[in-house]
Amino acid sequence: MKMHWVLGAVFSAATMLGSSTTLYAQDVTRSIWDGVYSSAQADRGKTAYSSNCEKCHAGSLDGMDEIPGLKGPHFIADWETQTVAELVTRIRSTMPIDNPGALSTATVTDVVAYLLQQNQMPAGSAELSPDAGMAGQIRINAVKQAAK
Ligand code: HEC
Repeated sequence: MKMHWVLGAVFSAATMLGSSTTLYAQDVTRSIWDGVYSSAQADRGKTAYSSNCEKCHAGSLDGMDEIPGLKGPHFIADWETQTVAELVTRIRSTMPIDNPGALSTATVTDVVAYLLQQNQMPAGSAELSPDAGMAGQIRINAVKQAAK
């Protein structure tokens, strides 16, 4: 009898773990391959990039000397499996490195739309939302994932 109770407890713990894993998988339903920004937004981002980022990361986004590039396999590899919200937060809180926090979340989100465009990610009809909850559901992957 006691043994049954223990087994039952183990089973319900496993079920709870299982369902929270499922919930998490459902939280992140999109990736940067799914047309998550608009072209108009990327154009705004380009303007903001030119005034705030270009002097260090270069007009080509290739970086210079010790400054990392913001496009290509190295950049995406640095962010692989993280979310767009994490990238926005990182830029918002540490960049421009000589004046961190100077840009609003909305402006940084536009800049990220521009970065996605320059990393050959497809544009869509809707804008990337500056809402962290929304952007937190978009995964960064170098390779397009199979639809779930
Ligand atoms: C004064 C120079 C300077 C400016 C201006 C600047 N950055 Fe940076 N950035 C750096 C340096 C140096 C690093 C590397 C150190 C670090 O990661 O904090 C870096 C790192 C980064 C990274 C991390 C790259 C990676 O592979 O993870 C991102 C993203 C980034 N910058 C975005 C931006 C954006 C977007 C802007 C404009 C809003 C900007 N930076 C403006 C100097 C600068």
